[in-house]
Amino acid sequence: MTRHPERIRLPGGPEISRLICGLWQVADIEKDGGTLDPDAAADALAAYAEEGFDTFDMADHYGSAELITGRLLSRTPPGARRPVAMTKWCPEPGPMTPEVVRRGVQERLDRLGVERVDLLQFHWWSFEHPAWLDALHEMNRLREEGLICALGVTNFDAAHLALALADGIPLVSNQVSFSLVDRRAGGALSELCARTGVKLFAYGTLCGGFLSEKWLGRPEPETIPDWSRAKYKRFIDAAGGWAAFQGILSAAAGIARKHGVSLSNVASAWVLDHEAVAATIIGARLTESEHRGDNLRVFDVMLDAEDRAALDAAFAATDPIPGDCGDEYRRPPFLTASGDLSHHLDTIPSVLETSAAPTRPGRTRASSGSVWEPLAGYSRAVRVGDRVLVSGTTATHGADRCVAPGDPGAQTTYILDKIAASLGALGAGIEDVVRTRVYLTDVTQWEPVSRAHGRVFGEVLPANTLLQAGALVGDYLVEIEAEAVIDPAPGS
Ligand SMILES: NC(=O)c1ccc[n+]([C@@H]2O[C@H](COP(=O)([O-])OP(=O)(O)OC[C@H]3O[C@@H](n4cnc5c(N)ncnc54)[C@H](OP(=O)(O)O)[C@@H]3O)[C@@H](O)[C@H]2O)c1
Repeated sequence: MTRHPERIRLPGGPEISRLICGLWQVADIEKDGGTLDPDAAADALAAYAEEGFDTFDMADHYGSAELITGRLLSRTPPGARRPVAMTKWCPEPGPMTPEVVRRGVQERLDRLGVERVDLLQFHWWSFEHPAWLDALHEMNRLREEGLICALGVTNFDAAHLALALADGIPLVSNQVSFSLVDRRAGGALSELCARTGVKLFAYGTLCGGFLSEKWLGRPEPETIPDWSRAKYKRFIDAAGGWAAFQGILSAAAGIARKHGVSLSNVASAWVLDHEAVAATIIGARLTESEHRGDNLRVFDVMLDAEDRAALDAAFAATDPIPGDCGDEYRRPPFLTASGDLSHHLDTIPSVLETSAAPTRPGRTRASSGSVWEPLAGYSRAVRVGDRVLVSGTTATHGADRCVAPGDPGAQTTYILDKIAASLGALGAGIEDVVRTRVYLTDVTQWEPVSRAHGRVFGEVLPANTLLQAGALVGDYLVEIEAEAVIDPAPGS
């Protein structure tokens, strides 16, 4: 029997336990204002580390988790292997200047009391705000300076992970929700990981504890006071509801009985079996409840064809969670505890300026601040009544940098975020788009462009034209324009 969790080395990063101890629960325990005693909590972490659970996942907003882990790290005798500390930086959207990014990274170093963060994972709330690329490039510079060992992201969908890689950011990991209930990460993201070597860290693998014997055959809970479980209950509802969920639980329970392990072990084993998955992160309520002994037994389970068939049959009675990983934070239906971002953010600032046309009542313009707009005489987008027209948009970042050079699919992802931001500034959304026109310099590259267009417009289905342009101004491979018509509010 395995006595310690399996280990894996991240490409260019530290060696970690394949069962990571998740410390979001520290924030939950501390939510009423008190903080855990750092020494007692570090003792609890030390007990995990002694049994091989020596990799800890935290974030800037997980209460005192970084400080507690720092306390543990400070106890490592010289020359001994110290536990691995993975943390996250989740800044509010805004300009990501070198100073802002250095401050964010330095705060992680100070709280952990280390000279180098083992793995720093970056979260961004809305890709319509393009400063996420500035943040990642700056974090990479700080990695080169030696302040960060390896760089990762969290809650990135496949398209934006591919875009970051195509723009030259050496990401080693993406931390996403992945479970028997939320199987999105097994799709496009896993395919991208297979092509690029990026690894996934799976969280929510036990759906906050719902994927355990405790809930097998139990009636649907009416109220859920715990934020984390309230979030996973939304996932269960989106995946077809309580009866479909009980189907998964019952299939997993049958497999657990067959192998003599727990239902939670089966849930973790199914996720860990995916090639792309480096590790699962299992939340721990330090000083309250511990499941280490049980979780270790996940390495005793080898799911066979019969087990997979039983799970597939249960999956067939569920609905797929809509969209891709991370969409729960970025678009309806927000599968967060509150059903929106209000637990996390007040607003997401627009990067465009809007102004009324002085001589044309009913006409509004949006400007990106480019020097070319007044010089050449155009707006990024114009609203006339209920119509919004977005100018030909390229993957220009800042004043003149071409994003993801040589990669038309990644450029399209970036362009469509800019178009969404332009529409948003004038009161429209992607769902209002009735026409797009796509210009390509090399029409043989139509497929990645069309797929990126399909990911955004797959349900909107605007009229579309795809054209070969002999050349575009600059190094761009793609340019897209869009037109939207805002539907009046239902019932008006
Ligand atoms: N990047 C992100 O956006 C993000 C989001 C969420 C979480 N995370 C990370 O992932 C970690 C884990 O995710 P999570 O906390 O949301 O969900 P989770 O790991 O699915 O659920 C954790 C809960 O499952 C229960 N549990 C653990 N082992 C068990 C076992 N063997 N048998 C029965 N129940 C067991 C425990 O509940 P009891 O203590 O009540 O028994 C524990 O609190 C977090 O701590 C955090 O580090 C990241």
